[in-house]
Amino acid sequence: MAKRDILILPDPVLRKVAAPIADIDDRIRALAADMLETMYEAPGIGLAAPQVGVLERLIVCDVATDEDAEPAPMVLVNPVIEAASEETKVYEEGCLSIPEFLEEVTRPAAVRVAYLDRDGTPQVVEADGLLAVCLQHEIDHLNGVLFIDHISRLKRERITKKFAKQARLA
Ligand code: NI
Repeated sequence: MAKRDILILPDPVLRKVAAPIADIDDRIRALAADMLETMYEAPGIGLAAPQVGVLERLIVCDVATDEDAEPAPMVLVNPVIEAASEETKVYEEGCLSIPEFLEEVTRPAAVRVAYLDRDGTPQVVEADGLLAVCLQHEIDHLNGVLFIDHISRLKRERITKKFAKQARLA
């Protein structure tokens, strides 16, 4: 396993649509392992392949944030939101590609997500709470969507400008 570099806003790769994965082979399993290691080290609770520069539909997450909790890594290939609740919930989100910026986002409170696991077996997860937030946030990444797209335009423009300036100075 190897830690990978996380792309930071305004890297254009973060705005591209990722391609479906046709074969879940050793390359994909190695990518998932690298992404989990990168996520745990960051630390974060979710990571999408485009964030490490790979435009393929793979996300990882682990919402067992309690210090005493056993790690609960999830690897989701080609995840699709099949259903979303009418009920919404507000959660203060952050993103490893937009460091040190948190903002409240409103999303469906519960979702049903279909995906393939790392063995290629079809799975369905009914998620609510933090897992529902995490899955929606990460699946957005596969479509070039960032959580700042769900906040007010004023706040989005402010943070986008800030990161554009930091990139120029780097
Ligand atoms: Ni993110």
